[in-house]
Amino acid sequence: MRKLLVTGGAGFIGSNFVRRTIEQHPDYQVAVFDKLTYAGNLDNLVSVSENANYKFVRGDIADRGAVARALEANAIDTVVNFAAETHVDRSILSPDAFIEANSRGTYVLLNESHKHGVERFLHVSTDEVYGSIPEGFFREGDALEPNSPYAASKASGDLMARAYYVTYGLNTVVTRGSNTYGPYQYPEKLLPLFISNAIDNEPLPLYGDGMQVRDWLHVDDHCAGIDLVLHQGEPGEVYNLGGENERHNLDVIRGMLNIMGKPESLIRPVEDRPGHDRRYALDNAKVGALGWSHAVSFEQGLERTIRWYEENQWWWRKIKSGEYEAYYKAQYSQRLSS
Ligand code: NAD
Ligand code: DAU
Repeated sequence: MRKLLVTGGAGFIGSNFVRRTIEQHPDYQVAVFDKLTYAGNLDNLVSVSENANYKFVRGDIADRGAVARALEANAIDTVVNFAAETHVDRSILSPDAFIEANSRGTYVLLNESHKHGVERFLHVSTDEVYGSIPEGFFREGDALEPNSPYAASKASGDLMARAYYVTYGLNTVVTRGSNTYGPYQYPEKLLPLFISNAIDNEPLPLYGDGMQVRDWLHVDDHCAGIDLVLHQGEPGEVYNLGGENERHNLDVIRGMLNIMGKPESLIRPVEDRPGHDRRYALDNAKVGALGWSHAVSFEQGLERTIRWYEENQWWWRKIKSGEYEAYYKAQYSQRLSS
């Protein structure tokens, strides 16, 4: 493993992974391949942009020719696929882009990787492919019962990775991470949306009763887990990467407001997300056996994340205009006015 193609490397987790890889593996060359959708942002990669081992290629994983050229021109031996449409609410408003990127795009990337002799292919997936679990923990062999168009499109990518391993012998491995938070997360997801709204004393639109449970994982721990599975995971296998840190949404938001010194009156209960999964929870035994554990506690991670958004307003204020405003209106204006 020397020459990596990191797809979706200009997004939240991908850019954190790229910075980490360049620091931890100075003998690796990292080519980021990213379509730069609304969520892709070269500001996320400024700190590595001058590094001799880094390069950026703009392209779509669903574009066969662009993928083939990137693999050949950079003599890629390893692919790490972060590229995806990732926001559940957007997948409910308009699923098309999710099928194109997450289902067809993953297939094209697998197929071109196979044709070009890629030696290792890690597909980054999500706990949402299992669906909701009222109690207990999902294990890797459990049935996939995705409930949103986003989750279903991700599940199809997981299954195609499996098919390319079984049928063509492509050396694939899949990770399924839980709710990830930290710096450079697009302010449509719960924490960056609510932190940035709270900084501006704007309402925090909490869906339904706020008693849904998510399992929070700091992005540094998620990236360390992906790196470990990339290097040590068994070919054809799937590895859960859970935060082991379950919280009700309402408790997360109360904790956040407390750290920020903002009032709970900012919380505005609004109409629920359709098909809203009640609880996610993962069994980490398999990746634990490879030696993975968390380094960042939720308390530390939340405080660090809040400080980052407070100190880096230049980063998110630019984003909260244009396309963002149109999306915000479509998603929230009726909810917040009723
Ligand atoms: P993100 O939305 O911040 O970034 C996605 C990136 O992919 C962007 O840079 C975007 O430009 C790029 N992209 C989208 N479609 C593309 C295409 N067709 N071709 C090339 N690039 C494309 O996402 P994220 O939160 O960093 O998630 C990264 C991966 O991790 C996704 O596969 C997601 O499903 C998975 N994941 C996310 C979480 C989470 O909580 N954020 C948890 C588990 C798994
Ligand atoms: O579990 C992993 C998944 O986590 C990833 O695969 C997805 O890419 C990522 O977006 C995330 O999905 P969620 O739907 O769990 O994340 P989101 O930040 O959208 O919402 C977290 C919880 O907060 C969820 O229960 C819905 C709730 N929520 C979210 C928003 C945006 C609200 O109550 N209000 C909101 O405005």
